[in-house]
Order: sequence, then structure tokens, then C-alpha cells
Amino acid sequence: MFKILEKRVLNPDVKLMVVDAPVVAKKAEPGQFIILRVREGGERIPLTIADYDRNKGTVTIIFQEVGKTTKLLGSLNEGDYILDFVGPLGQPSHLENVKRAAVIGGGLGTAIAYPQAKKLHSMGAYVDAITGFRNKDLIILEDEMKKVCNRLFITTDDGSNGNKGFVTDVLKKLLDEGTQYDLVIAIGPLVMMKAVSNLTRPYGIKTIVSMNPIMVDGTGMCGGCRVTVGGEVKFACVDGPDFDGHLVDFDEAIRRQAMYKKEERQSLEAHEC
Ligand code: FES
Repeated sequence: MFKILEKRVLNPDVKLMVVDAPVVAKKAEPGQFIILRVREGGERIPLTIADYDRNKGTVTIIFQEVGKTTKLLGSLNEGDYILDFVGPLGQPSHLENVKRAAVIGGGLGTAIAYPQAKKLHSMGAYVDAITGFRNKDLIILEDEMKKVCNRLFITTDDGSNGNKGFVTDVLKKLLDEGTQYDLVIAIGPLVMMKAVSNLTRPYGIKTIVSMNPIMVDGTGMCGGCRVTVGGEVKFACVDGPDFDGHLVDFDEAIRRQAMYKKEERQSLEAHEC
């Protein structure tokens, strides 16, 4: 059992939990994830590690309440326990020898982009962080991000924070101004990661995306998390979740992500009845 030490509401749908998980914290690296089960008989869900503290033995997760299990998780409070908390899983991000990077987070993807920016910053890289949200009420991790980047650009779809547009608008402007990056990391909705990858392709800038397909076992055995990268089948849980954005078949990933929408809706409706 894994105790919830801290719970924070980041916006009406997004919650942060600091979990007592020393064994996971000991080995966790940016880019990796955990799989948790809230209670016996419950669904296993993957969540990317948003932060970790090896000294305190804690792992931070940030999640959006979109389905039955995330709503159940969100109903827990400080002092409650999560049944299973397995990890770290997946491959750590490769962030060595980066001098200047753009780290891009779309919506909840900002929670996954944050540890990447933090690690790059701690390794001496110049980091531009670009985060995008639907409106200003949904902005998360602004203060945290400011501490681990050199410049932070926040956009909103509706312009309610005074900066209307998409993350790709900011990135395009920076690139047009001649900003040189040796790495772009894009994390968020598939359409956003596809748009960023398409934007950086002609510039030849290495672009890493974090894929979040449906996962079941998280150990490379079920094939549920497969993605096509450079024409080859890869399993996000063991080969990723980071992949070269210029090689990912995003159209296939978008189709696969929508496969169980009906069942997910039915499960949520049953939970809420
Ligand atoms: Fe089963 Fe990746 S989740 S192979």
C-alpha cells in the first residue's frame, strides 16, 4: 500500500498527489511512468512520473479526472492509500549533451514536460518552455515551470491569459527569429505532438514526443500500447514512451486511441450512477 502524503488541486479537473514510494523514487528518471491500481479488482492505469524526491522517497503524479479510475483516484485524500504503485517503467528520456532546448507541454502534458525541463535545466541547458491550455483557468505548474526554464511562454486557445494561440505559433515565431535548438520535446495531445513534429521536420531539429497509448500490463507482453515508429512496431511501455516525433505514425495512433471510447464512456457512466 502506498500512502498519499500530499494532494493539491491544480485546476478543477487536474490533481497532484505526492505518494510515499521510496523504491520507485530511488530509480525514477524523467520520461518514465508508473502503473497504479487504486483498489482490488480495479483497472491498472499508467501515469507519467511528474517529479520525484529520492531523499524523501516520494513520487509525484499529476492526473486529469477523465474516466472512472482517475475519478476514483481523485476522490482519495492525504493519508489514504493506493493499492499498487509499480515502477519506474519505460525508458528514461535521453537528455545528455543538450545545449538549448524547447520543452513544450499541451494541457496535462505540461505535467510530463516539467520533469524534462527540470532535468535539462539542472544539466546546464538553456530551456525555453512553451505551454498551452484551452483557457487561463486550466493553466498548471506556471510557478514550477518558471523555476526550471530560462523563458516560459504560455498560450491559451481563447486568449484569456492575454496570449491567444497555440504552442506551435510560439515555436514557429522563435524558429523564424532564428532561435537554434538542438532538441525539441513535445508532450500533450497527439494532434499537438504531430503539429510540433511537422513544424520542426524541415528545420531538421531532433524532436522527441511522449506517446501515451492504451496500456494494460506495462511490461511489453499484451501489445496494447503498440505504436508504429519508422515503419516498425514498437511498444510504448518498454521501448518508449519517448519516440522520434519525425518517425511516429500519428494518424494510426490517433485512430487507436479512439478505439475504446464507447466502453470508456459506459464505464464512467456506470461509476457515476
Ligand atoms: Fe502491454 Fe505495453 S502495455 S505491451
